[in-house]
Amino acid sequence: MSQFCCKLFSMSDKIKILVCTESHCKKRGAEDIVCALKEQRACMGLKDDVSIKKSDCLGMCEKGPSVYVKGLKLRYKHVDPGDCKDILRSVCGKKQGELKSPNFYVPD
Ligand code: FES
Repeated sequence: MSQFCCKLFSMSDKIKILVCTESHCKKRGAEDIVCALKEQRACMGLKDDVSIKKSDCLGMCEKGPSVYVKGLKLRYKHVDPGDCKDILRSVCGKKQGELKSPNFYVPD
């Protein structure tokens, strides 16, 4: 299931994941999220398909650590390192029009 979907897309379709590493999110382990996402991305063979970058505040400070997927406009709140595999699967699934994962978050 790992290299399942993202290889279907061209480099211009590269998925861009932003992880807020500003103060609120940093205090709640944002750096661990960046590491976990990168580790999981490597395990899933998605390095060429998914970019993971630290970002400024994403406007969900009280819900951090916060993750945002550019282009797809997906937002995740209270992210834990254990969520990273599901996030990557969900993001790839969204690209294919599959159902959202249970931790999918739609902002108010
Ligand atoms: S500090 Fe992370 S969303 Fe604002």
